[in-house]
Amino acid sequence: MTEFSEIVQELDTGLSSTPKKLSSKYFYDDKGSMIFQEIMAMPEYYLTRKEHEILIEQSGDIYAQLDVKGTLDVIELGAGDGSKTKILLKQFMDLGAELRYIPLDISQEALNELKGIVGAALPDLDIRPLAGDYFKVLNEIEKSDRNRLFLFLGSNIGNFIPPSNEEFIRFIAKYMRSGDRLLIGVDLVKDPRVILRAYDDSQGITRRFNLNLLKRLNREAGTDFDLKLWDFYCQYNPLNGEVRSFLISKDDQVVYSSVINKSYTIAKHEVIWTELSKKYQIKEIEALGKSAGLTSIQHFTDKAGYFSDSLFKK
Ligand code: AVJ
Repeated sequence: MTEFSEIVQELDTGLSSTPKKLSSKYFYDDKGSMIFQEIMAMPEYYLTRKEHEILIEQSGDIYAQLDVKGTLDVIELGAGDGSKTKILLKQFMDLGAELRYIPLDISQEALNELKGIVGAALPDLDIRPLAGDYFKVLNEIEKSDRNRLFLFLGSNIGNFIPPSNEEFIRFIAKYMRSGDRLLIGVDLVKDPRVILRAYDDSQGITRRFNLNLLKRLNREAGTDFDLKLWDFYCQYNPLNGEVRSFLISKDDQVVYSSVINKSYTIAKHEVIWTELSKKYQIKEIEALGKSAGLTSIQHFTDKAGYFSDSLFKK
């Protein structure tokens, strides 16, 4: 299988597993990234607005908890377009911080856009984007004795299936030096109905987001998924804080990939698990940090208590 691209391997492994699964990390092709913008603008999708509220109202308090003397490197994992981070950076600069902003992202295109957006808002900011897989790119960050703040915002940790959530924080912590900080954006447990509505939205935007993955596979993995034969379903389990999203087959069907030259038999009502969006209790966030040897400093939450930007120190 190694002669195939990553997404083709994902297709083969995922459709050969029981239950079938495909990783949500492949949602974000150009079309998928546009649909995600639509999701963030939905009234039901509170996550983005709540994190915005926290950063607008509390970036000054966050800065105070960094206890910075001299310069500060802000290293962001999965920076996206930087529109949220620029709020935080602006307030840090207004408080006199001498910053270097080092956004890391898999997509060079996203980083170019980010540089435009953040650079226009903060012309004095030193921006040094690094494109590539975090795992590789973190190694490229120059060693210096500056203060450092690592950012992992937007509830992206929610997509990590335990225990890979702990493994990922441990991986970041390995790159942190004593005194470095980590700010991680986490969606909190709340009224189960509020959580479910953010994914099971009335306009069917999240449905389109999931179905777009099949379109992408048709293009990039040579499959012949018939989108009419797939339904979207999601559930929230208040026992473990997990929203799980699925594509469900509406009929017995065979999907063929011309790239692998292989067929996959799928039964009526059989599911493909596409995404985990885990919601955390504060004590679980603390345990996550602790498992990586980090000390919890403060949980910055919005007024409704929906979301937390949690600050840790190594
Ligand atoms: C970008 C991972 C935070 O899980 O809430 C939104 C992606 N999936 N609606 C999330 C998503 C369905 C989102 N994250």
